[in-house]
Amino acid sequence: EQAGKGEYDHFMLKEINEQPTSLAQAIEGRIDPANGRIALSDFEPGTFEGIDSVQFVACGTSYHAALYGSLTLNQAGVRSSALLANEYSVSAPPVDDETLVIAVTQSGETADTLNALRQANAEGAQTLTVTNVVGSTAAREADDALFIRAGPEIGVAATKTFSSQAVMLTLLGQRIASDQRGEPRADTESLLAELASMPGAIADVLDDSDAAAIARRYADSQAYFFIGRGLGFPVALEGALKFKEITYEHAEGFASGELKHGPLALVTPETPVFAIFTGEEDEKTLKNAEEAQTRGAPVIAVCPDDHPAVEAADDHLEIADTDQDLAGLLANVQLQLVSYYAADLLDRPIDKPRNLAKSVTVE
Ligand code: G6P
Repeated sequence: EQAGKGEYDHFMLKEINEQPTSLAQAIEGRIDPANGRIALSDFEPGTFEGIDSVQFVACGTSYHAALYGSLTLNQAGVRSSALLANEYSVSAPPVDDETLVIAVTQSGETADTLNALRQANAEGAQTLTVTNVVGSTAAREADDALFIRAGPEIGVAATKTFSSQAVMLTLLGQRIASDQRGEPRADTESLLAELASMPGAIADVLDDSDAAAIARRYADSQAYFFIGRGLGFPVALEGALKFKEITYEHAEGFASGELKHGPLALVTPETPVFAIFTGEEDEKTLKNAEEAQTRGAPVIAVCPDDHPAVEAADDHLEIADTDQDLAGLLANVQLQLVSYYAADLLDRPIDKPRNLAKSVTVE
């Protein structure tokens, strides 16, 4: 097992560090920034022309990637929703043959997600899975499959597969929107250029992160909160999930604007707030973070260096200034590192947290 970890103490840290490579693999041959059009050569031109709405179904970290994908689709003008697969049998929105149901699952074997996929198939929706495992049940049972090519992930807490899922879903969303409209979005060229530079931007985060120091600084806190708006919201949820999975500490993620509708009651000087800035109404997120600060909570801003939040916050985790569709992915890498170092300080069994399994094949 130690051999598989190479120079790292844990698979999780190895997999966090693999992200520049796994992401480059995911996008390889699928985008062509030079001509400014989305290739996503996995699909024939016009494949998604007749799609009226999209439903994503997923669990756990994959659900957060699904929410990310769904929000990018909505922002691109395509009706879409992200649904917890385990809720789908009791509350699925209606589907027809113009509905595309996308099962997002790293393993392709999660029972809840397979159930939702089977229900969508039975009800006559078009189905697609976005998965890491060629030959998985989801890949076999969905009408079509898009592979994220992240390579095997051993750590129970998903890391590199989240980044690859979110990127592939962003790309797929652009493709669905452009097929529907008959032409790519005006800003496609710049998005693709930024996407092509993501592996490098993630490498920069990994080379120069203050996450270990921040994990140490806030090690004795009572609870950890994560807030974000727009695409920062699924990243806040994922930041909190990762943190609780491997540290066993209380962590929660909120939409920034929700903080004042209840969670603020939990905020004290003992509850650091990680605020994620993705360039979507950041001034509002900053105001929300300052409301927490007024109650004594330290705020850690995850944002570019020249962002106004850096001045206002108590601490800073830097990300490159990039397209708002992608900034959350860089923020997520910083938060993965914070969780990792916080769990390491507590000497938790990081790769195999108690009570959790890599793939849950029962309902
Ligand atoms: C388990 C794992 C999570 C994972 C979820 C969904 O609960 O512990 O890390 O996100 O399953 O797995 P999937 O393979 O469907 O992405």
